[in-house]
Amino acid sequence: MTGATLRAEFTRLTGEPPALVVRSPGRVNLIGEHTDYNDGFVLPVALDRGTVVAARRRPDGRLRTTALRMGGTDERSLTGLDPREGPDWSRYVAGAAAVLQESGHDVPGADLVVDSDLPIGAGLSSSASLELGVLVALLALTGDALAPETLARLGQRVENEVIGVRSGIMDQLAVACGTAGHALLVDCRTLGTRAVPVPAGTKILVLDSAVPRTLAGSAYNQRRAECEAALEALRAVDPGLSALRDVTPELLAAHGHLLDDVLLRRARHVVTENARVLAGTAALEGGDAAAFGELMAGSHASLRDDYEVSVPQLDTLVEIAVGTPGVLGARLTGAGFGGCAVALATADRAVDAAAEITTRYREATGRPGEATVCVPSDGTGVVWPPAF
Ligand code: GLA
Repeated sequence: MTGATLRAEFTRLTGEPPALVVRSPGRVNLIGEHTDYNDGFVLPVALDRGTVVAARRRPDGRLRTTALRMGGTDERSLTGLDPREGPDWSRYVAGAAAVLQESGHDVPGADLVVDSDLPIGAGLSSSASLELGVLVALLALTGDALAPETLARLGQRVENEVIGVRSGIMDQLAVACGTAGHALLVDCRTLGTRAVPVPAGTKILVLDSAVPRTLAGSAYNQRRAECEAALEALRAVDPGLSALRDVTPELLAAHGHLLDDVLLRRARHVVTENARVLAGTAALEGGDAAAFGELMAGSHASLRDDYEVSVPQLDTLVEIAVGTPGVLGARLTGAGFGGCAVALATADRAVDAAAEITTRYREATGRPGEATVCVPSDGTGVVWPPAF
């Protein structure tokens, strides 16, 4: 939905035009999976698809949100707010209001109308996109703004404290800090970021497997616990280790026997994936898209075999993509357990490759998967009125 259509819909639903409209992107991660909560490195891109939030203050201290995609409206008082109540989607909205209140911000009563063109639960951060969109809209209504890193931390608190998923910082940071035309290298220990140009002559493809990510939350939390257990065991040889990010390949080779088979494979994924992110960043900065493609293949294999977060349909999708002319590399993206894959393709073949992958995936699996070309975009911000 365009900003103009959303504004018209807001006026129809609430009787008055919105004061502002915020656009908040989704994200696709090029490389660096399950590294963020191990203080490691990630390389996501903010998408040209996302959430739009139209907002206006209301005088009665209530937050009334209509979610057009969900076909639902949620209304609640901002006094004694319990964000864990209400329909699933509304918990992200109320959660954003609650973390703002808890961090000392004055949250005004507001009408919100939200819409999204992101597939939900497909690994493209529809939830981070919504959290950040609501945070920025509520702040902007009182003329406030926060640094992107602060916004990202608040969004992460919604996931951790309201939704109950112990997610890392990658999604919220990518959504908050995206830069058009670029990927974002993030050091998840310091939250330092660097914009990395997507090489000229290449395009990013988002490949949706149409496999819902069932049980993703509990399996995700389990992977985190396994990483913590692996770290704890390795601290026997070096108590100075504060995250798996500090474990070198040499240390793991010398002391891997301290871990059982599962923990060893989890740790190996994190250690090798961090190295792939840094090598991948150098490859993109040097314009070596083919080298980046190789690293994507290594990442997928590691996620499939060592971290065990792939599913057969994602493996099929990645295999089909890699066998399509013009595709330089592909891998699952996001938490896994279903959802999306990402591919890098030559620009001249990108549109045709997307169509071919879609057809072949549908034939192979009978699922309505879809491949699309994406344009790296800017992070969350007010897009209307123009001079806001
Ligand atoms: C989800 C989480 C992120 C990150 C990825 C896996 O998207 O929200 O914090 O851990 O999974 O890389």
